[in-house]
Amino acid sequence: MMRNFVYLKVKIKDMTEKKFTVSYLEYSSIEELGPEDRELAAEAIEAMKGSYAPYSHFNVGAAVRMSNGQIVRGANQENAAYPSGLCAERTAMFAASAKYPDKDIRSIALGGGVYGRLTQDPATPCGACRQVMAQYQQKAGKPISVIMLGASRIWKFEKVDDILPFIFDSI
Ligand code: THU
Repeated sequence: MMRNFVYLKVKIKDMTEKKFTVSYLEYSSIEELGPEDRELAAEAIEAMKGSYAPYSHFNVGAAVRMSNGQIVRGANQENAAYPSGLCAERTAMFAASAKYPDKDIRSIALGGGVYGRLTQDPATPCGACRQVMAQYQQKAGKPISVIMLGASRIWKFEKVDDILPFIFDSI
């Protein structure tokens, strides 16, 4: 099990207060990213065109980089029976895992915006998508980096633990 939070432990009487910290990188444009991340970010933005969002009009694109270097795109798909739709991140991760079952997910980039225009602040993945990222990270046994894209800011997290501590992995 991969639990690499940075813990601070403080013993108070007979209980222990534990803390962990999260650090992440903020960039102001895609050009500041390294070449691989820049490519993945461009793919995620391109993937927004595959969004089917007749209800929210919020178009999300995601791109996953696999351990074999291949990139797989996904976009949110909505449905009149609302819960039947799926987020861009899970669309991308499930497609990637189905296409390359023997390979690992190394990183994921995502961006979203109304009518295809990227939001200023980065779009952040929903909890369900974070849980799915976390399990693929466990499967890989290596960190998956998460890049969240906005027009004014970009955030990069080195591992899924930083955006979802205490995942469900009890079964
Ligand atoms: N959505 C995503 O694709 N990813 C997320 O992480 C959050 C939300 C989609 C779902 C829905 O189609 C639209 O954005 C509005 O919630």
